[in-house]
Amino acid sequence: MIVHGEHRRTVWLHPDKPYIIQVIDQRHLPFSFIVEDLISVTEVAVAIRDMHIRGAGCIGAVAGYGMLLAAIEAAKTASFDGALAASARQLVATRPTAVNLEWAVKRQLAAIANASGIDEKISVARSTAEVIADEDVASCRAIGRHGLAIIKELAAHKKVGEPVNILTHCNAGWLAFVDYGSATAPIYTAFEEGIPVHVWVDETRPRNQGARLTAWELGQQGVPHDVIVDNAGGHLMQHGQVDMVIVGSDRTTRCGDVANKIGTYLKALAAKDNGVPFYVALPSSTLDWDKRDGVAEIPVEERDSTEISHMEGWSGTGTETVRILPEGATAVNPSFDVTPARLVTGIITERGICEASENGLLALFPERK
Ligand code: MRU
Repeated sequence: MIVHGEHRRTVWLHPDKPYIIQVIDQRHLPFSFIVEDLISVTEVAVAIRDMHIRGAGCIGAVAGYGMLLAAIEAAKTASFDGALAASARQLVATRPTAVNLEWAVKRQLAAIANASGIDEKISVARSTAEVIADEDVASCRAIGRHGLAIIKELAAHKKVGEPVNILTHCNAGWLAFVDYGSATAPIYTAFEEGIPVHVWVDETRPRNQGARLTAWELGQQGVPHDVIVDNAGGHLMQHGQVDMVIVGSDRTTRCGDVANKIGTYLKALAAKDNGVPFYVALPSSTLDWDKRDGVAEIPVEERDSTEISHMEGWSGTGTETVRILPEGATAVNPSFDVTPARLVTGIITERGICEASENGLLALFPERK
């Protein structure tokens, strides 16, 4: 994506020191654009756990690069395999819901195991990390092309110049991946093609990824948008102001149940009640083929209650954090919810669009039968 006129990914290897991972530290957006260097597995684990980087695809890509550091660190120990396995466990333990994390770590473990000799193992870890990141970019690009067809169809029923109104929740944008994003990819592609689009951006309490990240991203690309409070979507749908919903996912089961940021389920219910198509855009690295019933089986991360009791914002001279709850009030913070497949109109993947069902997904991914 273009940031301040320059093309950027969310994670990359230092151009001169290819053992240092560089990431955009998303905690500071939209107020400051800061690149952070990660030089150890522990720093990578902290960056994922404390959400310097976040979003399923980005977490997976950063974990892929983290495994390169794991191989470099393991090479300095007496037991390469033992140290590598310990680092893999450390990374996987950081966040439970986005399956891309475990997927990337397992892929690295398999690739490294197949290489012989320490130098080759490190070299394979480096190339696999780059492949994971490049595939993420290619998948998001393809999701954009497939999703474009849906937006084009909606645009065909509009008056000339009237925008297609798309509601999205949280940030399944460029910042949640390596580039382009999943939910935002069809929007960016339509925008590039000159189709008038307008995005309703759910602010996405408690961490405000919509208000802080999606709004910033769309602004950088020049895509028209308005931030709305999380509870406004149903009202806008009742008044015909939402043509479609596109969200991302952190883990989707083989039967099409979708885990995504808390509040997504309520948007899907409102969309169903109002006949608004509800699409989920995801690369296949987000599919968990071992799970069927999302509500029963997907682990939902519980985050610290201070994310609810406190809010951060720009004071005019810097960021400030203030308490918004009565002193002593307690809060509970489940970070994701599961939208059952029956509420999902379709899943947009890098291989095309399918019904949210086992048959639908297997038609696109027959190798998983
Ligand atoms: O907690 P986060 O910010 O890592 O949550 C991830 C998300 O932003 C959303 O759930 C998103 O819609 C899916 S991630 C591609």
